[in-house]
Amino acid sequence: LRDHAPKSQAITIPKIDQLILRQSLTAASGLDALTHAVEALTAARSGPLSDVYALRSIGLIIEHLPVAVWDGGNASAREGMALGATLAGMAFNATGTAAVHACGYPLSGRFGLAHGVANALMLPTVVAFNQRLCSKYELLKTALGTADVPEGLRALVESVGLPTRLRDAGVSWDALPELVAIAATDRRHLDANPRPLSVDDLQRLFEEAW
Ligand SMILES: [Fe+2]
Repeated sequence: LRDHAPKSQAITIPKIDQLILRQSLTAASGLDALTHAVEALTAARSGPLSDVYALRSIGLIIEHLPVAVWDGGNASAREGMALGATLAGMAFNATGTAAVHACGYPLSGRFGLAHGVANALMLPTVVAFNQRLCSKYELLKTALGTADVPEGLRALVESVGLPTRLRDAGVSWDALPELVAIAATDRRHLDANPRPLSVDDLQRLFEEAW
C-alpha cells in the first residue's frame, strides 16, 4: 500500500514535543472545553446520552488539565484532554451551550479576550447563579473535591494561571452595561440556560464577576 499511496496522502505522526502548546493556550482551550461539558450537562435540552459524554468529559478535564498546562509534554495528560474535549464537543453538539457563552462572546469581541479565558471568567459566577435551580451541579462535587462547586471551578481556573476576575483581565467597570446589552440579545445561548436570565440578572452576573 505504501508503494502505491500518493505522497499527498501520507500521514505524519508528530512527536509529543511538537504537540506542546503554550501554557496559556492549553489553559484557555481546556477551560473552554470544560465550559462546553458543564453547559451541556445542565442545558435545557440535556438528556441521558449527552449527560454520559458531559460527565466523562468533566472528570477527564478536571483530572488532566493542570498537568497538561504545567507539564506540557505529559502524553497521558494530553490524551486525557484530547478525549475530554472531544466528548465535550459530542455533548454540546446535542444540547448547545448556554449563558457562560452568551456572556463570554461580548468579552472577547469588546476586549479581545481568548474565548476560553472569557468563558473561564464567567463560569463560576454563572454556575453560582444557576445552581439554585439545577441540581446537576452536585455531580461535579466529587471531581472538584469540594462541596462548593463555583469555588472549586474558580480554584481550577486559578490553578492553571488564568485570571479569575474581569478587572484582572483588563475589563473596565464602565463597559459592563454594554457587555450586558450585547449578551442580552444572545437568545440562542440564554434560552439553553437552566435558569432564565433577565437583563438585571445579567448585569448582576457581570458585576459579580468583575
Ligand atoms: Fe466554547
